[in-house]
Amino acid sequence: MSRPKLNDKLARHDPAYLRAKRENYAARAVYKLEEIDKRFKLVRPGMRVLDLGCWPGSWMQYVAEKVGDDGLVYGIDLRPVSLSFPANVQHVIADVFEWTPAALGPDVRFDLVLSDMAPHTTGDAHNDKWRSESLAARALEIARQALRPGGHLVAKVFQGGQFPDLLKQWREAFQEMKPFHAKNTRASSSEQYLVGRGLRASAVLPAPPPAAPASAAVPAAVSPPKP
Ligand SMILES: C[S@@+](CC[C@H](N)C(=O)[O-])C[C@H]1O[C@@H](n2cnc3c(N)ncnc32)[C@H](O)[C@@H]1O
Repeated sequence: MSRPKLNDKLARHDPAYLRAKRENYAARAVYKLEEIDKRFKLVRPGMRVLDLGCWPGSWMQYVAEKVGDDGLVYGIDLRPVSLSFPANVQHVIADVFEWTPAALGPDVRFDLVLSDMAPHTTGDAHNDKWRSESLAARALEIARQALRPGGHLVAKVFQGGQFPDLLKQWREAFQEMKPFHAKNTRASSSEQYLVGRGLRASAVLPAPPPAAPASAAVPAAVSPPKP
């Protein structure tokens, strides 16, 4: 696996940034996942893991090392990941609001879904938190479509007005649910991770089929008349 250059220019003197650089991880975010994993013992050899918001790739690096050659890691992000990984680690450029797990095949189910997704911040805290919560809600929806019963979900969220609703949905979907504040979070941040363990069989959803390409999606009835 090739090792990247860190790209977080704002954090040059941050101990986690410097440690990530020394240890060849793509981002300091890896230590948040490490903390979560130490606390909840989620990532194990041979697992199939879906990573939503995977760029620049430090969570995929961590997970790939832990699941080993018998596992599978599949990452999704709006941005292209430039690291090179072994064949059992794949990533695509996609928007999670348009992507469906059915794109991977009809019966693919994961053991663990991770979401470190964050919206581009606008400076309007209310709006930013709302968009972060919408990403967390989408991560839960994808997890219900992509996890096997008993699987786990970790998703980042910045707490705002939709938070009580999110907690309720998480509790309904998982046998156990805990919010987790990572130590490796900047002091000024209100971010936390919702950790759901043991997806209830009753919460599993079928994944909708991928959208047809635009040209094939035009129904015959509205096709332009033949000349
Ligand atoms: C904090 S970064 C993830 C860092 C990553 N866990 C790592 O360790 O390298 C958040 C990512 O979420 C992605 N993201 C935000 N909205 C998204 C969406 N709608 N679909 C896919 N990815 C999204 C962003 O492009 C960004 O790369």
